[in-house]
Amino acid sequence: MKLCVIGTGYVGLVDGTCFAETGNTVVCVDTDKTKIDALLSGQIPIYEPGLETLVKKNVEKKRLSFSTAVQAAVQNADICFISVGTPPGEDGSADLQYVLAAAKAIGESLNGYKVIVDKSTVPVGTADKVKKVIAAETKQAFDVVSNPEFLKEGAAIEDFLKPDRIVIGTDSERAFKVMETLYAPFVRTGAPIIRMSTRSAELTKYAANAMLATRISFMNDLANLCELVGADIDMVRQGLGSDPRVGKRFLFPGIGYGGSCFPKDVKAIIRTAQDNGYTLELLQAVENVNEKQKQVLAAKIKKHFGSLSGRKFAVWGLSFKPQTDDMREAPAIVIIEELLKSGAQVSAHDPEALREAKKIFGARIDYQTDNYAALDKADALLILTEWSEYREPDFARIKSLLKTPVIFDGRNIFNPALMKEQGFKYYAIGRQEAE
Ligand SMILES: NC(=O)c1ccc[n+]([C@@H]2O[C@H](COP(=O)([O-])OP(=O)(O)OC[C@H]3O[C@@H](n4cnc5c(N)ncnc54)[C@H](O)[C@@H]3O)[C@@H](O)[C@H]2O)c1
Repeated sequence: MKLCVIGTGYVGLVDGTCFAETGNTVVCVDTDKTKIDALLSGQIPIYEPGLETLVKKNVEKKRLSFSTAVQAAVQNADICFISVGTPPGEDGSADLQYVLAAAKAIGESLNGYKVIVDKSTVPVGTADKVKKVIAAETKQAFDVVSNPEFLKEGAAIEDFLKPDRIVIGTDSERAFKVMETLYAPFVRTGAPIIRMSTRSAELTKYAANAMLATRISFMNDLANLCELVGADIDMVRQGLGSDPRVGKRFLFPGIGYGGSCFPKDVKAIIRTAQDNGYTLELLQAVENVNEKQKQVLAAKIKKHFGSLSGRKFAVWGLSFKPQTDDMREAPAIVIIEELLKSGAQVSAHDPEALREAKKIFGARIDYQTDNYAALDKADALLILTEWSEYREPDFARIKSLLKTPVIFDGRNIFNPALMKEQGFKYYAIGRQEAE
């Protein structure tokens, strides 16, 4: 089939590339000329494991191309995906301006029946809005389908090629058949294609992210209690997660959830409820706990050192999670801003996110491409993202480089007993201090 993907970000680029991988001809469109120019010259604007190889392969096979010309891309396509950003508006609701602009551009370009797919995460009722905007521009027949994306940054290719499920929201038999055919290669091992209304599909995506965010806030709340009562959250996690009704995944406490999805999607579903005269009390608490959790590590640092003025901190990890360069809503931003506000200096390392970090902090912090270089004469090491390469470091070297052997581990990647053995003062989340 011929596809047009409007919006070539973390989702659009991965989805477009993976659809090309199964033999479709895909044009990825973006209004950001710099991004398209970069892609046309063979550069990948984001870090996502495995993406570069797959993009190159499909470009070479002429199944994947990039363009800023939306009209031609739409007119040559059987299916048009809308995968533009839906950032939070000031009131927490999802800002639909990019989705509706893409819909208008599609409407203006339609030259025959096409399936229009909302891939972006959008509030309930958006498919109806998209339909209206397109219909205002054209007399051609079309269907609007809601097909939310469930991929995880850092494992996006694997998630897309081997999905747990595909959700397709439509009341059109014709559009459903097209979507079923498109996804057939991805569900050969038995993952279900779940058909529902557009409204249910739209809400399913928010429900999934809200549930995952709830698990994280639940564990963070419990972790704080563990510290007060002398328990260890890691043991509680193991004991809790081995109950199959609970499950092991998404039970890791830390310094709060971040990223481009959980914070904005929790806010947006709360807003949807408010707009409909309902209060999602549980999710409001999930959000409050998360905001509080982003302050926990800085509070421990201040308690340990007293004044932070003139102190230097080494930060390992900036992205909101490992295996991505994405820093949107990363807890590291809140923590580093707090340290800077308190008069401290920061020297940071991240395997992939330094470019993004520079856009946020500019010259206000120091950047190191070698993680040990960040430690030089620092008062303490902070672990803010659990990249694998930080898990088994040379502790003797860390100790020799730090001014004082203190580690604040926001991701619980080290063993407190081992830290004690190595002579570190070790602070983690929901565990007892080791010294
Ligand atoms: N990032 C994720 O992990 C993830 C996972 C699932 C769902 N989603 C959802 O997918 C959507 C996209 O997320 P993302 O992370 O890929 O965003 P992104 O910001 O990385 O990419 C969006 C792209 O859309 C482009 N764009 C904006 N308006 C446009 C227009 N009118 N025409 C063409 N291009 C346009 C932007 O220039 C940008 O390149 C969001 O709704 C998000 O919530 C994201």
